[in-house]
Amino acid sequence: MNDILLRAEELRYTYDGGDAPALDGLSLRIRRGSRVALMGANGSGKSTFLLCCTGVCRPQSGRLEFGGEEVSFRKKDLLRLRRRVGIVFQDPDNQLFSASVLQEIAFGPLNLGLSPEEARREAEIVMERLGITPFAHKPAHALSGGQKKLVSIADILVMRPELILFDEPAAALDPKHAAIVNRIIEGLTAQGMTVLLSTHDVDYAYGWADEVILFHEGRVLRQGPADEVLRDREALLAANLQLPAVPRFYDALCAAGVLDPSVPCPRTMEALETLISARRAEP
Ligand SMILES: Nc1ncnc2c1ncn2[C@@H]1O[C@H](COP(=O)(O)OP(=O)(O)O)[C@@H](O)[C@H]1O
Ligand SMILES: [Mg+2]
Repeated sequence: MNDILLRAEELRYTYDGGDAPALDGLSLRIRRGSRVALMGANGSGKSTFLLCCTGVCRPQSGRLEFGGEEVSFRKKDLLRLRRRVGIVFQDPDNQLFSASVLQEIAFGPLNLGLSPEEARREAEIVMERLGITPFAHKPAHALSGGQKKLVSIADILVMRPELILFDEPAAALDPKHAAIVNRIIEGLTAQGMTVLLSTHDVDYAYGWADEVILFHEGRVLRQGPADEVLRDREALLAANLQLPAVPRFYDALCAAGVLDPSVPCPRTMEALETLISARRAEP
């Protein structure tokens, strides 16, 4: 049971003045240490669900459990929850207040009761790791979108959460910053964090995720291993998504007799290329 870090049962949430529920009986489970991609059309409830996980939105009904305990949404419990669950918002401007980068990142640890020196040291470690030390003394509002994104990630990492949520982390980033952000995310589960992110990028999810959860109209359409869900054409169609490129090429290469279907489909384009080269090298 300990294996499940987060559990949602039949969550329902309608925004004030909203005419339809944003979450309409949403149930799912997140295993500790896993990498999970939330996918689905705009408006399917991904962001609302992530906001529930940090207590920003309180479901009108249903049950949310974190670490085996029901989330009560009482103020004291929410403070504890937010130490353990960090969210990187889609738009960094919703997250950063306009202090210097260093002050911004040290604020969380200071708030937890660390001394100013300790908080500064914690912030410096994370800044170094994310490569943002060079603009430590700039005000956050003077940074580029990509730099702000890195600061908003540092803001959360410095708190060492157990679960980290990213709402469309690569959206609106240039390719260089998208690659940097993806590399940062890549390393997090190795440090014992559980990572849940929303994305529209099926290729990225196929290469990165252990599990994929398809959202549809405020409910879960399908949850399962990435290499099953993202090869399920019917489910993908229902969620307005396409088959990722790697399994598409793999299927075509198997059909053309180039690849042997008993060799499982790889997760990345590089691994697929290696398979094809190895095939060509055979006598
Ligand atoms: N602040 C808000 N006020 C009213 N309705 C909202 C608000 N935010 C989202 N919604 C509605 O809730 C539903 C789910 O939205 P959202 O969780 O943002 O989906 P996604 O992140 O999958 O695009 C949509 O119908 C959206 O219009
Ligand atoms: Mg969203």
